[in-house]
Amino acid sequence: MDSQLGLIEQSFNNRYTLWVHEALDELPDSFTITDPSISGHPIVFASRGFLKMSGFSRAEIIGRNGRMFQGPRTNRRTIMEIREAIREERPIEVNLLNYKKDGTPFWMLFKMSLVFGKEDGRATHFVAVQVPIVSRKHMRNSGMSYSEDGGGSRLREIVFGSCRREVCSDSLLDLDRVLALDSDDTGLEIEDSCEASDLEKRKAATAIDNILSVLTHYSQLTGRLVCGKRCSLPGMGFISSSLYISLGRIKQSFVLIDPHLPDMPMVYASDAFLKLTGYDRNEVVGQNCRFLNGVDTDTTVLYQIKESIQTEQACTVRILNYRKDKSSFWNLLHISPIRNASGKVL
Ligand SMILES: Cc1cc2nc3c(=O)[nH]c(=O)nc-3n(C[C@H](O)[C@H](O)[C@H](O)COP(=O)(O)O)c2cc1C
Repeated sequence: MDSQLGLIEQSFNNRYTLWVHEALDELPDSFTITDPSISGHPIVFASRGFLKMSGFSRAEIIGRNGRMFQGPRTNRRTIMEIREAIREERPIEVNLLNYKKDGTPFWMLFKMSLVFGKEDGRATHFVAVQVPIVSRKHMRNSGMSYSEDGGGSRLREIVFGSCRREVCSDSLLDLDRVLALDSDDTGLEIEDSCEASDLEKRKAATAIDNILSVLTHYSQLTGRLVCGKRCSLPGMGFISSSLYISLGRIKQSFVLIDPHLPDMPMVYASDAFLKLTGYDRNEVVGQNCRFLNGVDTDTTVLYQIKESIQTEQACTVRILNYRKDKSSFWNLLHISPIRNASGKVL
């Protein structure tokens, strides 16, 4: 458990300067950030807005998975949609029913996006913004109307004209609470489905933009750049973060090559390979393996390797390779194609 907490602390420190926490905390929105490379895909950051909205403290959330906010009436199909989007590493926007710490259900617009490392195009973090959806039903019951262009503030004026002092504030969340207080029920009555308005969608999109700007800025200060779109070397293959984690568990020295890309670049290099050769990952991923050869490398062995790749057959050779510091070493190299279920080389 301690090592898990260590990983969570490191999750940000490796890539951003320490001030990133403060900068994210200044943003007014409700959002969380998760790290897919840590087992259980835990939350590594929760904004002040999110803590206020959910009623949880930071300590109760950090290290947990976002599913902790779901409950009996959360739509299973929507959860599956989110799971698929995470697996395929793509953004998603859905209306989702969650529960606060005190058990109160509430509808929100859940908008998720990804942060990619610039050096290898890997997804380093997921960001999710949670915008509370102002219930249209409560509005109708209270005889209120809602228009997108500035209607939110007009509505707020109407509500806060008669609201109790202790809940009078500017956020949509509090607005929801006021509407619940004003209604006849306990506030626990909840619709089966709920649609976010265009205004709420715009709010979520702006929040994501702002969060990504902060992360990009603070990654520039460490030189380990991130961006909101996959942005790595052109023509480089991508390895999903889940496959990356699995490969990371293999302790041997090995690399993966994508034979379908121009010049057959390396798309993965294990830690043991980097230790053996003295290179950094960003120096080798995206390159053809020929950088390991040198003046005394036997060309007949190179020919053997080329033939085994062309014929898609495994081969084992003994080849003289060179480290980054130019020192040579004998490499007992085994090359093997990886095939899919129908036998096609991946
Ligand atoms: C950045 C991020 C934040 C998330 N926040 C929430 C959340 O606030 N509420 C929620 O119900 N699910 C949230 N999720 C989704 C769950 O963590 C989980 O991915 C989802 O329930 C589907 O996976 P499962 O089927 O393994 O539970 C979040 C996911 C990510 C990546």
